[in-house]
Amino acid sequence: MDLNIYKGTDSSWGVVAKLFHWIIAILIFFQVAAGINLHFMEFSMQKPLFIDIHKISGSFLLILVFLRIIWRFYNSKPSNKEVPLIHIVVSKIVHVILYALMIFIPIQGMVLTWTGGYDVSLLGLYNLPRLVEENLIKYEQFKSLHYYFALLLTFIFTIHLSAGLYHRFITKDKYGIWKRMSFKK
Ligand code: HEM
Ligand code: HEM
Repeated sequence: MDLNIYKGTDSSWGVVAKLFHWIIAILIFFQVAAGINLHFMEFSMQKPLFIDIHKISGSFLLILVFLRIIWRFYNSKPSNKEVPLIHIVVSKIVHVILYALMIFIPIQGMVLTWTGGYDVSLLGLYNLPRLVEENLIKYEQFKSLHYYFALLLTFIFTIHLSAGLYHRFITKDKYGIWKRMSFKK
């Protein structure tokens, strides 16, 4: 299969990178909303089911993020020739933090699950070997850490989202930043 036709160009990230970006963005919204919901949920018969869904979608997200990064190395990136340096530097920092959090939080969620004495399964099909011992004191601490990192992720992607909307609506996308990640021609 010729993957070159799916690669980015000077003015677009290309269809594969766009699909990764938007599918992962939707999953992140879902994951944060479901997680915050779990944080405030009293224990009930349904809670374990919600936690299972959260774990399955979170591990799926982690797999997608790894695939996205692999594709990023292979893909051609749009040109930043016209874009002011300050935009380039700030957006690079924000993107690196986003990638780091998209990897760290799910892995930390897996560690948290093991310290609670539970299993992590790959897409609900296969249980991964437990790499960390059960420790219920750490479980509570790791749960708080997981929560605060999810809030940090929310904060950073809100900055990112605002920057995207700023390009789209305030600058009328004069540098083509919005267009290169959007599916609209
Ligand atoms: C509705 C919400 C969102 C909007 C409007 C949006 C918009 C954009 C746009 C326009 C770009 C292209 C930037 C460029 O070409 O320089 C971009 C890139 C990017 N976005 Fe988003 N985004 C959103 C949600 C998210 C979320 C939730 C995440 C992850 C937590 C995310 C992570 C990224 C990353 C890492 C890049 C850089 C791509 C790369 O360098 O590989 N975005 N986004
Ligand atoms: C970007 C991905 C993820 C985000 C944003 C996220 C977010 C959250 C949040 C906000 C909570 C609530 C914490 C609390 O109760 O104080 C939570 C709970 C939890 N998460 Fe995640 N999570 C993600 C991925 C994962 C993954 C991949 C796993 C494991 C495979 C996982 C396992 C758990 C567990 C076990 C809980 C505790 C539920 C409970 O006992 O109340 N999370 N998550």
